[in-house]
Amino acid sequence: MSPHPVFRDDLLAGQVAIVTGGATGIGLGISSTLAQLGMHVVMASRKPEHLQRAVESITAAGGKASSVQVDVRDQERVVAMAKEVHDAHGRIDLLVNNAAGNFYAPSETLSANAWKSVIEIDLFGTFYCTQAVFPYMKAQGGGRVVSTSMTLHYRGWPLMAHATAAKAGVDALTKTLALEWADHGIRINAIAPGPIPTEGVRKAFTPPPGAPVPDLFNVDKAMASWAKGAIPLKRWGTPEDIGQMVAYLASPAGDWITGAIFVVDGGEWLAKAKPAS
Ligand code: COA
Repeated sequence: MSPHPVFRDDLLAGQVAIVTGGATGIGLGISSTLAQLGMHVVMASRKPEHLQRAVESITAAGGKASSVQVDVRDQERVVAMAKEVHDAHGRIDLLVNNAAGNFYAPSETLSANAWKSVIEIDLFGTFYCTQAVFPYMKAQGGGRVVSTSMTLHYRGWPLMAHATAAKAGVDALTKTLALEWADHGIRINAIAPGPIPTEGVRKAFTPPPGAPVPDLFNVDKAMASWAKGAIPLKRWGTPEDIGQMVAYLASPAGDWITGAIFVVDGGEWLAKAKPAS
């Protein structure tokens, strides 16, 4: 649950959301924030152990949550998932396309399967899920979709050809579907999160086993010091920062917003884009 709730508790009460990849990391921050605002959150992911833990943590905090196992690359399963959620709840108000996969890898040796895996999760998965909820949102007279994008493709980002290509596609899809489905009252937006420390980021700041560790070295201090130098707002992001943006877009405050991509990154990408002095 968010430590800094800014919306009233029943803002989204009675509504139903599907959050893909919603049981861990940024996805869990989104799921928790939406549950705190009264939504029933259906977390969708490949791993049952993650799902069970996340449902328990949200329900223990007084929220409504359930889970569905799905690989967003499997279109048939995605279509079945949307039907299951609709059968169980009678509506789907919000889809959050948060499931993503990526890794740093040199393009010259990237295997066809590695390329395909990331494109299929990030881009195909986003399209499959969005298309799968469309008939339900259309029938109920509207709905909202929020997809997770990134900022790395604004300039290019070495070793991330697969993910940057996929997320550029997500941005294009966001704008195109926003126009195509506006007549049905469906609002489609995206959020581009900045650096949010995951286990992988923490590992990158931890000296490898056996490496000399400077006196008084502390991973948290090293990370805080990096953030002060690299992020204009001088701190790492949190999953809740992204959750609050999703909540805003899902709420009536976002009623006139569609086809937009919101950068939520403490100013990080703009600072990076500054010409070298
Ligand atoms: N460098 C190069 N290739 C890599 C790689 C890396 N770091 N990690 C995975 N691959 C390749 C695999 O070798 C495989 O290709 P191959 O069959 O030619 O050998 C292909 O990518 C698929 O990998 P696999 O792990 O079998 O696929 P998956 O479909 O189960 O999962 C990912 C794909 C992207 C989710 C998985 O690689 C992963 O767990 N990534 C890190 C976690 C992550 O992305 N979290 C989300 C962050 S937003």
